[in-house]
Amino acid sequence: MSDEWVAIGKPQVLIRELESTGFLKELVIGEKKFVLTYVQGQFGVLNNKCNHMGAPLAKGKLKNGCVECPWHYWQFNHKTGIALSEASQPLATHGGSVPALETKIEGDLLFVNIKNESERIKAQYNLDYPGSVLAREPKREVGKIRVLGLSTTAMDKNHPRFSTSEELLKSSLARANHELDVETRFLALSELNFRNCEGFYSKSERACTWPCSITKMDAADEMIKVYENLVHWADVVIVSTPIRWGSASSLYYKMAERLNSIQNQITLKNRVLIQNKVAAFVITGGQDNIQAVAGQMLTFFGELGFSAPAFPFVAHSLGWSSEDMERNMNYVKESDYLHQHAFELVERSVVLVKKLLEVNK
Ligand code: FES
Repeated sequence: MSDEWVAIGKPQVLIRELESTGFLKELVIGEKKFVLTYVQGQFGVLNNKCNHMGAPLAKGKLKNGCVECPWHYWQFNHKTGIALSEASQPLATHGGSVPALETKIEGDLLFVNIKNESERIKAQYNLDYPGSVLAREPKREVGKIRVLGLSTTAMDKNHPRFSTSEELLKSSLARANHELDVETRFLALSELNFRNCEGFYSKSERACTWPCSITKMDAADEMIKVYENLVHWADVVIVSTPIRWGSASSLYYKMAERLNSIQNQITLKNRVLIQNKVAAFVITGGQDNIQAVAGQMLTFFGELGFSAPAFPFVAHSLGWSSEDMERNMNYVKESDYLHQHAFELVERSVVLVKKLLEVNK
């Protein structure tokens, strides 16, 4: 291939410019974008497109002589473009390499050979990366209607305490087990170790993936249990929460942010992972704001693709001026009315999901 050397600028001027941007900046030549770097007396020029999902490398950082991708942190040698294999794991055994361009200094100018990029070598992907099991197409397995009870109450798993919302959720599941022809599961977020959403979506909607980018990178992250149950196992999800300063629990929001990876598939690919499923809610609190909490939960689960039954939540609060937690707990424990209504919420949800499955089969 013939060479075409393009003058980029005076090295001393470029170094001064690079100093203010962490020794890495975007370089545009004609219609093509590159990333220009300077490390220990050497300039490097790489193609701007990451080998993983095409993120713009010039928006990344320079680390140990490598350009680190801003999206999922793969690293490429700033001079050769060869991936640091550890940085792409566990998703890929090797991140391959991004095209690198030759550079030379002649006279008082830095030149780049734009006709002689090295070859892009594809990454070698692991097929059993963490969370790979989630990537299967959601398909309802035959069998009884499956009801998931999902408690979002925050508590120390080594020192569990009585929770009014969990009490109603568990009792409704137990009764559903006996009186409805369903399978049930209970999942408490407080028993899972899972990371906060780290805002991949805020970098780019394409950086937020399904399965979730965090799940794919961190085998220890237990959000996989929530994903598996919501997307693949459950027909009905009953979510319980306490009211905390007028909102759902902190764990609920921690989970909700991670569920962005499900909703984002609709935005990105018109791919609806949640279909023919029903969500309903159990909301209790020492103080009030039930309707606001229910409104948020209904909106959010609706945006994921869940349907809601008529009368979609059961709730209890003694109100702002009646703060008395012991009385509140006893009230819920002893309330046949609330237990009955929590069970009826499951019953209504099961009736609705059967209809949805029948109509859409
Ligand atoms: S690491 Fe670059 S796009 Fe994922």
